[in-house]
Amino acid sequence: MNITKVIKARYSCREYKQNLLQAHHRMLLSQWLTTLTNGPFGTPIRLMLLASTPDDQQALEGLAAYGSVKNPQGFIVGAIENTPTSLEEYGYVVEHAVLKATELGLGTCWIGGIFTRSRFAQKIKLRENEVLPAIVSVGYETDYARDNFIRRAARGYARVPFEHLFFDGTFETPLSPDKAGIYAQPLEMVRLAPSASNKQPWRVVHHSQFWHFYLQRTKGYGKGSLLFTMLRLPDLQRVDLGIALCHFELTARELHIHGAWKHVDPQIATPENTEYIVSWQEF
Ligand SMILES: Cc1cc2nc3c(=O)[nH]c(=O)nc-3n(C[C@H](O)[C@H](O)[C@H](O)COP(=O)(O)O)c2cc1C
Repeated sequence: MNITKVIKARYSCREYKQNLLQAHHRMLLSQWLTTLTNGPFGTPIRLMLLASTPDDQQALEGLAAYGSVKNPQGFIVGAIENTPTSLEEYGYVVEHAVLKATELGLGTCWIGGIFTRSRFAQKIKLRENEVLPAIVSVGYETDYARDNFIRRAARGYARVPFEHLFFDGTFETPLSPDKAGIYAQPLEMVRLAPSASNKQPWRVVHHSQFWHFYLQRTKGYGKGSLLFTMLRLPDLQRVDLGIALCHFELTARELHIHGAWKHVDPQIATPENTEYIVSWQEF
């Protein structure tokens, strides 16, 4: 896949055609999911595609994402071992699956809010040591969903400006695309990533061969907020961070930039509500 093209083509498609997923799409996507068995830090993950078929039109019975999407024809669902990094790793791996679905021409939408969690957990036979933080709906996009996206893309994707997300050495010094050099593109692909309620909590600080990734929590949203506590939602902003790592790494690799993820907190001063996650070290 040409990764930047695929990332720019992806959007949250919330209305699908009534058509079932075609057999070849089901097969290609399912096959791809079986290849994604570990997170970027080595945590085991299992993914599956749940979809209605001509022989089993009831396959999605009881599986619902209330208020989020209309006519989903399938869901990507995953189970990851519960480790300190499982939420970021889930975001990373499932986003890789989302990009594959996008490449196949399918519409997708991440759903971390309200869905029939226990029914999805039954389907994937969730084990005691595993978590299921979010799901992704899949189907053929309607013209209405596509037109909405094109209009939005023309307005600039509704994202925080580059210089507010990426920094040079310290959080005090914004980084311009020019100064980011060859990394401007991987960072731009981070900027275009999906995030829960479009909060875009990722921040990146560049220092020599390191790109340090941080989670800047949105006040009153996410972990500890009334909404998340009442609905018992997982810490979705950590899933967002994993999605950003996926976009960054896939784009860097396409540009033949070599590097790896390392936990090397530079201990620099951080703004309020901001925590270190991981760093990309260029070789
Ligand atoms: C972890 C995560 C959870 C999300 N949960 C929901 C959800 O429950 N319902 C929904 O309609 N959209 C959900 N979204 C989609 C975001 O609202 C969407 O990605 C964001 O608004 C940016 O829009 P875009 O994906 O079209 O670029 C979620 C996205 C992420 C990454």
